[in-house]
Amino acid sequence: MFKLAFKKFKTKSISPNLAEVINVDTIEDKKDERLESDNQNVERLDISNARTIQTFPGIKPLCDWRAYKLKNHPGIIIIRDPFTERGRRYWIARCLRDYPRTPNIVNLNERLFDDSIRSDWWKQLGQCNDSKEFQRIKTAMRWTTFGYHHNWDTKIYEDQMQSPFPEDLTSMCQLFAFALGYDDFKPEAAIVNYYPVGTTLSGHTDHSEPNKSAPLFSFSFGQTAIFLIGGRTLDEEPSAIFLRCGDVMIMSEESRLCYHAVPRIIKTEKSWSSLLTNEGFDNADIALNLLDLDLLKKVGDPQFWQPFSNYIDDSRININVRQVLNKGDIKLD
Ligand code: SIN
Repeated sequence: MFKLAFKKFKTKSISPNLAEVINVDTIEDKKDERLESDNQNVERLDISNARTIQTFPGIKPLCDWRAYKLKNHPGIIIIRDPFTERGRRYWIARCLRDYPRTPNIVNLNERLFDDSIRSDWWKQLGQCNDSKEFQRIKTAMRWTTFGYHHNWDTKIYEDQMQSPFPEDLTSMCQLFAFALGYDDFKPEAAIVNYYPVGTTLSGHTDHSEPNKSAPLFSFSFGQTAIFLIGGRTLDEEPSAIFLRCGDVMIMSEESRLCYHAVPRIIKTEKSWSSLLTNEGFDNADIALNLLDLDLLKKVGDPQFWQPFSNYIDDSRININVRQVLNKGDIKLD
């Protein structure tokens, strides 16, 4: 069932029936009859009792968040774009300029890419003048890992295989974790996935973490994904849902170990090269020191932002954050 659904949405020669894809933006729009079928599976999640959290640069106040749960996939929570435009730009720039740098690990093959590209991909991309080579380097980047690195061959995390986990991402994840009552959540491993339009991620479960009960936090930026969430086996029929720019998805409880996949990226987002609307930030906000303040300022500068805007114009980025250790453990066995 899962593989069939994946194929249906992936196949390039056909346009998938997007009416089947859950679109949380339409949940409250009672005027559109078609949406009734969405509503059967999606429910607004009441977060009015969520913990009050301190303001965080680039994130809207809690009272403006809209959260949803999927009734037939208990444990899946979607917070519909709680970021401000400056916030979205900040995380996109971090994922492109900073995270795929040594000592973090990237997928780029040493036989195909020089050390200079493998250690600082975005910088080298910016210096590339040949359009064919530019495209080759750009589309080859598919993932970077930091914190504990997942060993894709052995499928285990090892104590010696770690790079520092960025403090800004730790703070941002813990803000969402705290708001939802996961006070003990510790971001310890991240994979950033890069999806040029046309790329996919096939069905898998995330079960390499010794701690399988902590939730997994997933942040989407750029173009829209069709995301499939299924059950514990490939026999169960998955649900398809749009994940759009800024969306935060939490895989918790029964859904933490379920099959999921990204069969398609759809270009939906407008061009991002324009000036930021009047959105600033308060220089006196003490939470500002949790982020790279210089970058937070610069993403408002159209010239600085242009290359990031060009990338995201036909790509999606996903930041996927997990806790690895069980509570009380200080290292892996
Ligand atoms: C993943 O499962 O690692 C990525 C999911 C996504 O891109 O939304």
